[in-house]
Amino acid sequence: MRLVIVSNRLPVNIATDEKGFRFEPSAGGLASGLSAFVEGARKARKGPSEITWIGWPGTTANNKEQIRSEVLERFNAHCVFLSTREVDTFYKGFCNKTIWPLFHYFPAYASYLKENWEQYIHVNEVFCNTVLEVVQPGDLIWVHDYHLMLLPAMIRKMQPDATIGFFLHIPFPAFDVFRMMPSQWRRRILEGMYGADLIGFHTHDYRSYFLHSSLRISGINNHMGDVVWNGRQVKVDSFPMGIDYRKFHSAPKDAGVAREKRNIRKNTGRIKLVLSIDRQDYSKGILNRLKGYEHFLETNPRWRNKVSLMLIVVPSRIGVDQYQSLKTRIDELVGRINGRFGRLSWTPVFYQYRSLSFHELLALYNTCDVALVTPLRDGMNLVAKEYIASRTNMKGVLVLSEMAGAVDELSEAIIINPNNIEEIGESIALALETPTAEQARCLRSMQKRTSTYTVFRWAEDFLTALAGVKQQQQDMMSRTLDEGLTGKLKQAMRKAGWRTLFLDYDGTLRLFANSPAEARPGKKLLSLLERLSSAERTDVVLISGRNRQPLDQWFGKLPVHLIAEHGLFIREKGLKWRLLKHVRRSWKRKLLPVMKEYIDKLPGSFVEEKEYSLVFHFRKSEMESAKHRIRELNRHLLNVMTNMDVQVVPGNKTLEVRNAGVDKGMAALHWLEEPQGKPHFILAAGDDTTDEDMFRALPSDAWTIKVGLGPSHASHTVDGPEKMVELLEELASEIKSP
Ligand code: UDP
Ligand code: G6P
Repeated sequence: MRLVIVSNRLPVNIATDEKGFRFEPSAGGLASGLSAFVEGARKARKGPSEITWIGWPGTTANNKEQIRSEVLERFNAHCVFLSTREVDTFYKGFCNKTIWPLFHYFPAYASYLKENWEQYIHVNEVFCNTVLEVVQPGDLIWVHDYHLMLLPAMIRKMQPDATIGFFLHIPFPAFDVFRMMPSQWRRRILEGMYGADLIGFHTHDYRSYFLHSSLRISGINNHMGDVVWNGRQVKVDSFPMGIDYRKFHSAPKDAGVAREKRNIRKNTGRIKLVLSIDRQDYSKGILNRLKGYEHFLETNPRWRNKVSLMLIVVPSRIGVDQYQSLKTRIDELVGRINGRFGRLSWTPVFYQYRSLSFHELLALYNTCDVALVTPLRDGMNLVAKEYIASRTNMKGVLVLSEMAGAVDELSEAIIINPNNIEEIGESIALALETPTAEQARCLRSMQKRTSTYTVFRWAEDFLTALAGVKQQQQDMMSRTLDEGLTGKLKQAMRKAGWRTLFLDYDGTLRLFANSPAEARPGKKLLSLLERLSSAERTDVVLISGRNRQPLDQWFGKLPVHLIAEHGLFIREKGLKWRLLKHVRRSWKRKLLPVMKEYIDKLPGSFVEEKEYSLVFHFRKSEMESAKHRIRELNRHLLNVMTNMDVQVVPGNKTLEVRNAGVDKGMAALHWLEEPQGKPHFILAAGDDTTDEDMFRALPSDAWTIKVGLGPSHASHTVDGPEKMVELLEELASEIKSP
C-alpha cells in the first residue's frame, strides 16, 4: 500500500541565491512531525510500502523543471508550483490572512477578500490535478492542514472510491468564530473536508467544534463522530500528534549537540537559562511572554544577574503585514528589557532571529532550565513535547499555555493563561524554584506519555482508523440492496407460497413533509400499492405510527391491510378497525400540557395529538437548540410519567409518548399469526426507531430493509424512499395480478 501525503509545504524548502538553489528543511510542526514519520517508516521498513509527498517547494523561481526532477529524485516528492500571484492571494492571502487568524481566534486580523477566496479554490484545484496525476489505484491519500480544506471533496468528485484522510494541524474554532466567515465559504470548507473518509484533529475540543459547526451550518448530524455524508460514511476523530521521542531523548549523547552546548555555555556562563522558541507568529504569544519576563525581573530582583532568556524567533510568513509588525515590536521589547535591566556582565535576553540546526536546537533544549511555551492559541505545539523528551538528566520545568493543544497530554507542566502577564512572570519564578525531586517527578510522567504516543503511533492510529472506516463503508455496501441482491429477493418472492409485505409509510414510501398532513401520497404511489396488493397470494400491510383517520382517508379504498398508531389499531382489508390491545389514554391529559410548554421554548415545533399517543415534532426547528430542548423535554416527561404505563420513543425528528407494550413488532407478529396461512416470504421496510421493533421481531429469514442510512437491525438497506419505491415497482412488475 502506497501513501500519498499532500500538504501545502513540502518537507524541504528551496532557497535561491545568485549561485542557484539549495534545499533547507521547512519550518513548522507539520513539516517536522511528518518528516519524522516518513523517515522513521522508511528506516523501519514498516507501514506503507512507499511514501510520496505532494506540495509546494516554497519558491517562485524560474528553473522549475530542474527543481521538479531533483525534488522527485532526492525526496520522492512531487512539486506543485505557485505563481507570484497565487503566493500573494492564496498563501499569504486566504490561508494566512483569513483562515489562520480566524482559526486562532484573531478575528480582527482576518480579511475576507473575494479574490483570495477564488484563488483558494483555484489552488486547491491545482493540487487536485497533481494528485490525480500521481495517485494509483489502491493508494491512501492523506491531505494535511488548512491550506487544502477543499481538496478532499475535489478528489472525491473525480475518484469516488478513493481512500482519503484529512488532518487539520491548527485549532478548529468554536462555531461563533467560524461563522464569521461568509456563509458560502464556510459551507464549502466544511463540505470540502467531508470529501475525506476520516477527518482528524489534534484535540477532542477541535473535533467537537467542527461537529457543532457541521450541524449548525450544513445540518450534518453525527453519532459519536460517525457521519453519513452524500451516502458515504465519514468518521471524525481526534489524534494528538506526537514526536519522534527517541530522536530527542537520545540526542544529548550526540557529539554535535555536546559541541553546541559548550558554545552556549561559553557565552552565558553558568547562569540559569529560560528558553523561548517559536516561529515568528502572533498566535505564539511572544510579546506577552517578553512582558511576563520583564514583570518577573521587576518583581524578583533576587534573580537579576542570575538568569537569561534565550529568545529564538524563526522567520515565518514574511510579507504578511501582521507578521512584519510583530518583528518590530519584538525588537523594541527586547531592546527595552536589555536596556532596563542589562549590565556589561549580564544580558537579560539573548535574541536571535533565525532558524536553528537540529544540533543547536537540541543543545538549547538540553541546556535551558525552563521552557516557556505560552502561545495565545496553538493547534498542538511540538516544541513543548520535544523539550520534555530532551531532559534526560531529569531536571527542567515546562511552563505551558492552557491554549495549546499539547496541554491535554502535559498536565504536569506549570499551566498558565497566556493573556495574564503577571501569571507568566510568577510562573518563571515558580519554575526556577521548583525542587529537583518535583522536577523529576513531573518530567517522568510527561516523558512516559510522550514516549508512548509518538508521531509513529499518531500516524499508525490515523491510518488504522482510515482503514476501519473503509471497512465499515464496505460492510454497509454489502447490505445495500444492489442488483444482485434484488435478483435474489425477487426469486424468493416468486417461489413463495404466500407473501406479506410490511410497509411503513412516512420516510419509507415518501419523504417527510413539514407537517404530517402535508405528506399525502401521490397518484403514482397509490397505483403502485394497488398493483402490489391486488397481486395473487400477496398481503400488503401498511404499518404506520399515524392515526387511523389519514390512513383511512388515503388508503381506505385499496385492498391493503392497515395498522395505525404503531400497532394499536388494525384493520384487515374490507373489515372494520379493531383495537389490538386495551390500553389507557387518560395520561394524555397530564402530558399534553408538558409538551405544549416546550412548543413556546422551541420555535418551529408543534404537538400532534393521536387517539392513544402524543407526538412532539421538531422537524422545522433549528437543530442545535432542538437537541437541548428535546433532552430537557425527555427528562421532564420521564419525571411526570412515573406510575403511568407509557414510554417515550424518539423518532425521525419527533419524540412520541405512547402506551408501553404496543409496538410494530408486536403488531407484525400478531399479523403473521392470522388465520390466512403462514406466509413464506416476508418483507418489512421502515426508516426509524419504531420500525426497528418490527425488524427485531420478524423471523430471521425475513427480508428486512432499512430505508436510509444509520445503524439498524435490518438485514438490508436502501438509500431513501425513492429507492424503496423503485424496488417495489420492480417487485410489482414481477408478481402477477389474479
Ligand atoms: N523547529 C525547527 N527549527 C527551528 C525551530 C523549530 O525545525 O529553528 C521545529 C521544532 O523542532 C518543532 C517545529 O519546528 O518541531 C515547530 O512546531 P510547533 O508545533 O511547535 O509549532 P508550529 O511552527 O507548527 O506552529
Ligand atoms: C504551522 C502550520 C503548517 C505550516 C507551518 C509553517 O505548523 O500548521 O501547515 O506549514 O505552520 O508555516 P508556513 O506558512 O511557513 O508553511
